Amino acid sequence: MDKNTTIFAVMSALAQEHKAINLAQGFPGFPCDPKLVDLVYTYMKAGHNQYSPLAGVLSLREVIVQKVFNVYGVNYSVTDEICVTAGATEAVYVAIQSFITAGDEVIILEPAFDIYAAAVEAAGGIPIFVKLVFPDFSIDWESVEDAINGKTKLLIINSPHNPTGAVISQSDIDVLENLVQKYHLHVLSDEVYEHIVFDGRTHYSVLRSDILRERSFVVFSLGKTLHVTGWRLGYCLAPKRLMDKFKYRHQYVTFCAATPLQLACATYLKDENTYLGLSTFFQQKRNYFLEEMRGTGFEPLRTKGTYFQLMSYKNLSEETDIELAKRLTIEKKVATIPISVFYHDATQHHVLRFCFAKESEELKNAATLLKS
Ligand SMILES: Cc1ncc(COP(=O)(O)O)c(C=O)c1O
Repeated sequence: MDKNTTIFAVMSALAQEHKAINLAQGFPGFPCDPKLVDLVYTYMKAGHNQYSPLAGVLSLREVIVQKVFNVYGVNYSVTDEICVTAGATEAVYVAIQSFITAGDEVIILEPAFDIYAAAVEAAGGIPIFVKLVFPDFSIDWESVEDAINGKTKLLIINSPHNPTGAVISQSDIDVLENLVQKYHLHVLSDEVYEHIVFDGRTHYSVLRSDILRERSFVVFSLGKTLHVTGWRLGYCLAPKRLMDKFKYRHQYVTFCAATPLQLACATYLKDENTYLGLSTFFQQKRNYFLEEMRGTGFEPLRTKGTYFQLMSYKNLSEETDIELAKRLTIEKKVATIPISVFYHDATQHHVLRFCFAKESEELKNAATLLKS
């Protein structure tokens, strides 16, 4: 595998080459609400085609701050504590560049989304990897504490978690509060799947904690929430002293996100029904997919959030997950993501990640191909 290309691009390209069903990359296989597209067109025709303020269009910042208050009961300043970005990817990158300097250590819990370590290294920082506990991918807080030393500056957490579908609990938040205070740490909390939690669970955002809010960059994705990952829209919330540094960096990376898209989201998000039904919507998809996958020999690991389902194939094959993912794409025409690539040392659990944010027919066809 080409080390310079992400696994998502590699598997999507392989899926295209072999005309495979792409359950690899994490994007919805169904259209967004046409109303959202109409709104973009309306704003474009009305002439909103130039740069927005660097922190983002005011109406979008206002609607997000209101949404955060409605969902989490906390107030962020529209002027000082929010910045709209070109996807959560830019928000993660900018937060890390603005806060990490050469030699700083950053704790990353593995398996981890690949952008964290890359951004830490780009800032001259040192990623320190701590493994989540297989198979439920809970956080081993003793190992986290053991990894902390005088150089540790930041801890990155991600809940609901890609690729495992694990979510943190109130007790995780309690331990995190203690560690952050004891060792004067800061947190980067990646919450792009905030609205996708299953079986009646609550999303334990760091926003709910006064202690953590004071010391956290918290990152979200409108691409994930509104099924428009290609629009590249996200945002970061942080207290002013952190947000000032963030905005300074952001202006030299993209300056601002696309103006008509921001305006469209600002109007669309006024209706909270546009995102509050997501958990139910994706839970139905998860259940449908699990039902269809019966009889394939794959064993599901529990998914508590996100639109990813891990499947163990330990009873089916001794191949590595990369070998199997490639073979399934070529021979069975179903593309998945091997989860060893989310570990710096390629830890092998014999597990693949399936994205179930797809139309039922596509999920059914994939399962049928796997059964054959
Ligand atoms: C955990 C996590 N964080 C961040 C991102 C990036 O989000 P965006 O598409 O808004 O850049 C993703 C995308 O898959 C993700 O899974």
